[in-house]
Amino acid sequence: MQPSRSRLCFGSLLLAFLAVVWFGLAPRLMAQTPNPNEAKSSTAGKAPPVSFIKDIAPIFKESCFGCHGPKSPKGKLDMTKFATLRKGGTKDDPIVEGKPDDSYLIDVLIATDRQRMPPLETGDPLPKEKIELIKRWIAEGAKLDADVKPEDDLVRELRKRYVPPAPPVVYPYPVTVTALAFTPDNKKLVVSGHHELNVYEVASGRLEKRISTRSRRAMAMTFLADGKLVVAGGRPGEEGDVRVYNLDAPGKKVGDLTFLDGVNDKNVLLAHLGDSDDEILGLAVSADGKKVAAGGCDRIVQIWDISAGVDKAKSIASIENHADWVFGVAFSPDGKLLYTASRDKTAKVWDLNAKESLITFPDHQNTVYDVLPAQAGKAGLSVGEDNQLRLWNVTGDKAGKSLRNAGHGRPVFRLAAVPGKPIVVTCSADATLKSWDAEKLTPGKTMGGFSDHVYAVAISPDGTLVAGGAFNGEVRIFQLTDGSLVKNFNASPGYSDKK
Ligand code: HEC
Repeated sequence: MQPSRSRLCFGSLLLAFLAVVWFGLAPRLMAQTPNPNEAKSSTAGKAPPVSFIKDIAPIFKESCFGCHGPKSPKGKLDMTKFATLRKGGTKDDPIVEGKPDDSYLIDVLIATDRQRMPPLETGDPLPKEKIELIKRWIAEGAKLDADVKPEDDLVRELRKRYVPPAPPVVYPYPVTVTALAFTPDNKKLVVSGHHELNVYEVASGRLEKRISTRSRRAMAMTFLADGKLVVAGGRPGEEGDVRVYNLDAPGKKVGDLTFLDGVNDKNVLLAHLGDSDDEILGLAVSADGKKVAAGGCDRIVQIWDISAGVDKAKSIASIENHADWVFGVAFSPDGKLLYTASRDKTAKVWDLNAKESLITFPDHQNTVYDVLPAQAGKAGLSVGEDNQLRLWNVTGDKAGKSLRNAGHGRPVFRLAAVPGKPIVVTCSADATLKSWDAEKLTPGKTMGGFSDHVYAVAISPDGTLVAGGAFNGEVRIFQLTDGSLVKNFNASPGYSDKK
């Protein structure tokens, strides 16, 4: 009956699940970590020396860092820095340069008793090829690459070296829509893709532009007043980032499609506000356009001041106020408060000046996916896994107490406000979008016709159009006043479900 948890949580779990589907079926996309064997096979007999950062660190990251990280490492061995690896844990340096057979590190990898690493109860030993590679690296002197310092954080060093794959030319499978944004002229819709953003013309539903991105998936995006697009996303369990793009930069024209390189072209990728160790899920820009907030799977909300331009963005706060993933963030209209929604089952309000938590709203009693200010910042609106849209007090002695609630039949994932009107629109696992009176929570229009969970919602800047994006790649655009369908298409370029 219940769909699997991984489908409901449209954060890392869902994306990890999708990654399995994607990469299982389209292995050519799996160019993520450098493959040590590639270089070897081409120079049979005279293999180039094993590189610690390219060949060995990725193995450690995948199989060891989980228990041997900087925070209370097992056996007191922190493997996330070359220096601490060589310092050893409760025992000495586990490596004897030039002598793999005398190295404790190799002993634990080939052990068959309870000394083995990774520990017996946690799964299989490392594959033979990987152990051979580590042995060869030790035999060659266990050297550290010249461009890495012993104290460098290896997770960060690996992230720096990550080369994103090119987006698929033709999607073999539909890609889940996780973020949407109308362009400032209301005429186009930007839709998240696989390592890209796709721009569709609203009136015709025609794909007109594809912008490749480092991020595997955009989880949230917002246009700035000057027409630049801020995008938050990343790779589940690997990295998160917030980047700013100029979608109007010149690109490469192929037929009537324009391709932009959002990975390397400095005219397209304008700024990299910041990164984190896990995916970013929520993003907000303050009403005055001066601040950007983003939060995600590392539980932290980062805030940047962009008043001097996105290229001169300054990190001004890093707020740790939730016990679990942050799914949604929003500024109060005056920019003084920050509203946040979390998997820790609460929505919270943070005072940016006083740097303290003001309110915790606990009533969802389940994951809270999104939050917005209401009543000019005197109230909060939040949605969650409990199927509800909830309105609650932010000021007065009833602060943090519920005012009223209304619901979908299934979990509610996102919430968007209609500019200048007391109306909000929600998207839900019940395969619909709904508009609501933001004060009374009386339902307005129900906009359906989707055949799957609707994970993303966006409203055009002029307040006339609403778009929803679904698990199966479906995008449907409606007229907000009467709920009529304007356009629908599948936002997975080249994918055809017509068999
Ligand atoms: C599931 C958790 C887990 C994983 C994954 C894991 N280890 Fe361990 N490791 C431990 C524990 C627990 C100890 C402490 C064992 C003890 O003291 O008896 C330990 C101890 C060690 C030690 C001895 C440290 C010392 O100085 O006492 C080495 C070396 C080691 N691990 C290497 C590795 C390597 C290499 C990997 C990856 C291939 C790995 N471990 C993966 C849990 C883990």
